[in-house]
Amino acid sequence: MRVLVVNGPNLNLLGQREPDVYGAGTLADAEQRCVAVAGELDCELTWVQSNREGDLVDAVQGAAGSADALIVNAAGYTHTSVALRDALAAVALPFVEVHVSNVFARDAFRHHSYLSDLASGVIVGCGIQGYELALRRLADLG
Ligand code: DQA
Repeated sequence: MRVLVVNGPNLNLLGQREPDVYGAGTLADAEQRCVAVAGELDCELTWVQSNREGDLVDAVQGAAGSADALIVNAAGYTHTSVALRDALAAVALPFVEVHVSNVFARDAFRHHSYLSDLASGVIVGCGIQGYELALRRLADLG
């Protein structure tokens, strides 16, 4: 299975950014852990991070024909982006939405996601381990 992992704005700062909220793990740590799990599950991973909404839309569009499933942490765009939602609806590939922090224990504006109702599953508040859990779930779904 080919899995595209799409990371949104400010996730490049994981490990330095609000460590009390997001923990000490970096995005590179999350990727490394997923690469290990991907080997175990015989998955092929492509890892993308951008601070720009259009780049994320392009990455999702590019998944058509090059990936079988996605893991999406759209970060702040989760709560704002109709464009990203439309891209995910257009490619119509299964995806798991991940949030490192427990968005439901945070600001009210983080309780709504433009993506969740399209997702196969949503993992929140499990730290960077959420990415591995998402990968295992997608592999189980086949
Ligand atoms: C986040 C949660 C979002 O609300 C926030 O804007 C982020 C990261 C998370 O992984 O916990 O940047 O998606």
